[in-house]
Amino acid sequence: MKKIEITLDSFDTLSELSASDQSLVRAAIERLGTGHAPYSNFHVSAACRTQDGQIWIGTNQENASFPVGICAERVALSVANMQAPGQKVIEMAIVYRDPSHRHKDPLAPCGMCRQALSEQSQRQASPVRLLLANEKGASWICEDANSLLPLSFDLRDL
Ligand code: THU
Repeated sequence: MKKIEITLDSFDTLSELSASDQSLVRAAIERLGTGHAPYSNFHVSAACRTQDGQIWIGTNQENASFPVGICAERVALSVANMQAPGQKVIEMAIVYRDPSHRHKDPLAPCGMCRQALSEQSQRQASPVRLLLANEKGASWICEDANSLLPLSFDLRDL
């Protein structure tokens, strides 16, 4: 039998996080709502920190041709890789604004973004740490995004 477990650190308020973690979550929250989400009205913002300490933001960008839209996380990864080539993406904070107010837990990245995060950790040979948070500051910390995509398909399979 094979059993796979994931471990997340869970916090109720932003003040429980380290100053560095708080600053990354705040950077993501600051840009919430500046994306392009007229179809879902569901705004997502992702802030990633590269090893040189810089922070790169991505927001979701939707399109009238729905599949053309892109999630905040993949925008943030693309921005970081383009603007800071060769710099490792150490961590990423992901926050969302849910118009229905149904959710109280943090948001976990979609499957496609987990795949992109998996590729990122492969290409830089080090994990991407995730800070999943809601606007009120409740957060889950995941030390390695790969743990959210067990048994993943990657370049070693090709
Ligand atoms: N979205 C993200 O940006 N990231 C996720 O991890 C989940 C979903 C966006 C895509 C779309 O613009 C909106 O949220 C609703 O699915």
